[in-house]
Amino acid sequence: MNDLLKNTLLRAVHAGADLLRHYFEGTFEIQSKDSLNNLVTEVDKKAEEAIIDVIRAEFPEHFILSEEAGEMSTGSEYKWIIDPIDGTVNFAHGIPICCISIGLEHNGVMMLGAVFNPFMNELFFAERGKGAFLNNRPLKVSNNDQMESACLVTGFPYRWVEVHMDPISVFERFIRMGLPVRRLGSAAIDLCWVAAGRFDGFWEYNLNPWDIAAGYLIIEEAGGRISNFNGDPYSVYDKQTLATNGKIHEAMLKIINTPPTS
Ligand code: IPD
Ligand code: CA
Ligand code: CA
Repeated sequence: MNDLLKNTLLRAVHAGADLLRHYFEGTFEIQSKDSLNNLVTEVDKKAEEAIIDVIRAEFPEHFILSEEAGEMSTGSEYKWIIDPIDGTVNFAHGIPICCISIGLEHNGVMMLGAVFNPFMNELFFAERGKGAFLNNRPLKVSNNDQMESACLVTGFPYRWVEVHMDPISVFERFIRMGLPVRRLGSAAIDLCWVAAGRFDGFWEYNLNPWDIAAGYLIIEEAGGRISNFNGDPYSVYDKQTLATNGKIHEAMLKIINTPPTS
């Protein structure tokens, strides 16, 4: 069963990737969702359909939660959590930092995760208890335990209305420490790049389960730590995400939770 699940996951990410490659820098329809710049393209929908077709062909009874198609609840113990394009704004602008992200939960526990950026030919994969890999090479988080020399990445929500903390003040605090803070535009890739040791830490408010499902397991299996902003064990349904190499986690929590000075 596990081999079939894994094989289906990999075929599904590749099916989505074929569509991303086909349309990249070409013409396709683009629409706004809940805010002007939160985009969905016809490629998101086509890739999602191709991914779901692969999964359904093997496991018609499994639960699917996918960003554009929504929730297809079946009562199954297995739940596929799909983001057909993470980094849609990048994709729509011809920026090759975007990916397909798919996580598989079994009885509420993330078992498998894959994040594929076809434009960099980077396939991140993890299986619970068996490690994380980039194109079959084992992945490990960075070793840096010095907050002062950390390299960080973050993202910002499209709609400020839903944000209860002020993401700009947290961002400002890290910037005022003189730290390099990047913003790639794909939370799934941000998480994988922490897993790969390229970044030491990532935080963001208001992500959705499909942004994080696969990256969450990839981080953990690469030896990193992921939590909400209280430092509690993580759930992909949390609205606060802090993922680090583990060594700077407490220091980042402290900075994130520092009350703003008036
Ligand atoms: C977005 C990306 C981005 C993050 C946004 C997400 P989408 O996902 O992950 O990095 O900052 O909050 O919505 O819309 O490209 O799938
Ligand atoms: Ca996303
Ligand atoms: Ca998406």
